[in-house]
Amino acid sequence: MAEWSARARREGRSVGFVPTMGALHEGHLDLIARARKDHAKVVCSIFVNPLQFNNLEDLERYPRQLEQDSKLLDEAGCDALFAPQVETLFADLQPHTYDLGRLDGHWEGPSRPGHFQGVVNVVERLFHFVRPDEAFFGEKDRQQLTLLRHIARQEHWPERIVGCPTVRAVDGLALSSRNARLSPAERQKATVLFKALTVAGAMAFRHTVQEVEEAVRETVANEPGVQLDYFGIADHDTLEPLMDWGDRDLTVALIAAQVGPVRLIDNLTLWR
Ligand code: PAF
Repeated sequence: MAEWSARARREGRSVGFVPTMGALHEGHLDLIARARKDHAKVVCSIFVNPLQFNNLEDLERYPRQLEQDSKLLDEAGCDALFAPQVETLFADLQPHTYDLGRLDGHWEGPSRPGHFQGVVNVVERLFHFVRPDEAFFGEKDRQQLTLLRHIARQEHWPERIVGCPTVRAVDGLALSSRNARLSPAERQKATVLFKALTVAGAMAFRHTVQEVEEAVRETVANEPGVQLDYFGIADHDTLEPLMDWGDRDLTVALIAAQVGPVRLIDNLTLWR
């Protein structure tokens, strides 16, 4: 794969990269389209990374559909698919413990110990094999994106990390491979995450952070069968939880909730 990228670059073609765990949906295809806009060559990887799952059942049940994904990538104009075996990608891997600063001390961090170390380790491995110029990540996984930008800067990775807006279904639900595990009734209930974020968006900067949190808790509580894990307002760049708006013009609202068998996350940028 590295040789393929090197040849593309020798021919004056830059390489855009979309790392995924497969079960591709419109969100992934949007990342491919964005990569295609900026790069002559686009690579997508499909690898269900065991290092980032702290729940064995979640890992085992993660949807896998390589043949269908491969067809979707062809149709989307992706030039190469990198779908390595664990033994290839992790050959000689000594998992590295990265300094994540305070970035995994809140939101997903406490609920998923080791998750972000697993993400950073696999992204480093994927970059090592693919050698892209830029890599494209969805803003739906906002903390992952913030963390990868931080590590790329800290470790002097040559690859540029590009964040892309969340793609949503018409009812607002953020697209995610995990949505496939929701029953039709659960799928309907899951829209409460975006509803709650919309409530936060409407109240932001005009009410206190505590009032926004209260309104969001009430919105989610009104949807039986959905358990709120967290909701909060964070600094746009560091994702540090905020108790008040301060003089910021930009913040982020983050939410996670359990809907049936699936834990869903979402977030929304809030503007003053
Ligand atoms: O966002 C994802 O799908 C995964 O966390 C990633 C970046 C492909 C690493 O396994």
